[in-house]
Amino acid sequence: MIALRGLTKRYGAKVVVDRLDMEVAPGRVTGFLGPNGAGKSTTMRMVLGLDHPSAGAALIGGRPYAALRHPMREVGALLDARAVHPGRTARNHLRALARSNGIPARRVDEVIDTVGLADAAGRRAGTFSLGMGQRLGIAAALLGDPEVLMFDEPVNGLDPDGVRWIRGLMRGLAAEGRTVFVSSHLMSEMQHTADHLVVIGRGRLIADAPIGEVIRRSSLNAVRVRSPHAEDLAGHLVRAGMHVVREDTGGLIVTGGTMADVGGAAHAAGIRVDELSPRTASLEQAYLELTASSVEYAAPAAEPAAAATGRARR
Ligand SMILES: Nc1ncnc2c1ncn2[C@@H]1O[C@H](COP(=O)(O)OP(=O)(O)OP(=O)(O)O)[C@@H](O)[C@H]1O
Ligand SMILES: [Mg+2]
Repeated sequence: MIALRGLTKRYGAKVVVDRLDMEVAPGRVTGFLGPNGAGKSTTMRMVLGLDHPSAGAALIGGRPYAALRHPMREVGALLDARAVHPGRTARNHLRALARSNGIPARRVDEVIDTVGLADAAGRRAGTFSLGMGQRLGIAAALLGDPEVLMFDEPVNGLDPDGVRWIRGLMRGLAAEGRTVFVSSHLMSEMQHTADHLVVIGRGRLIADAPIGEVIRRSSLNAVRVRSPHAEDLAGHLVRAGMHVVREDTGGLIVTGGTMADVGGAAHAAGIRVDELSPRTASLEQAYLELTASSVEYAAPAAEPAAAATGRARR
């Protein structure tokens, strides 16, 4: 388990990690989300003892990294896949790591197999493609067979096959009861991979909840309703305080009310309804809504919100 206790990091006057209090539990994949500059990598670096907290603590199994007797056997991490000596072969790189950490040499070939690098293990790491480099970094993280694993944007630059492989790997590690903490900006990928989410913005905790709950809390969860008297129904829904957007196909997308609210309003008005269905928000929508006020490096708005233009997005 990873535990953050009032974890804080300041660079000069800027607070980049701000009193984070949370636990990353074993047996599940926890996604770590937040806009660029939110403090995700800094948090992970503090867990690994690469940065010192300005206040508070980051603990692995109850102890700070510096107090771990066999760090690589307790926590493995992929933070920067380029942190490999380019002139060494993959196998030699892993052997050196194993030797200096008291890990048996046979473990090297095991992890090489696990990450699918058996054919390339004798090649110099400097000649590796991005995806092969990621795999080598993951092999190093797995070397000590640790209970806790952290991956900072592990699918960056990977092809679909590699993305799927990493997803399976992380799910498998969590299923073995390990703690898996992974940052990513790819919301659709997170939706497939994570069980639980931690969202930060400007160094502060915004959400710490199961993924289903993060989506459920979104105000963008909607109800789709179709009726031969759609205009009439829309009027009733708006008067009941709901927000209505018309689809091109004649359906209505309603927010601010449950299916029961919409069905009840239609029933009360004596209006026939041909379809009443949930329109669940995507993780991306829920995430953007959660972090809207925490984005530091925002691009100019490219697309106005669906509700404002009267167009419904699916
Ligand atoms: N060594 C440093 N000196 C000064 N500021 C730093 C240093 N390292 C990080 N920062 C600042 O800390 C903030 C958080 O950076 P961090 O890399 O943790 O964000 P992140 O959430 O990982 O972002 P990204 O999604 O872009 O990877 C940023 O504003 C960054 O500029
Ligand atoms: Mg980062």
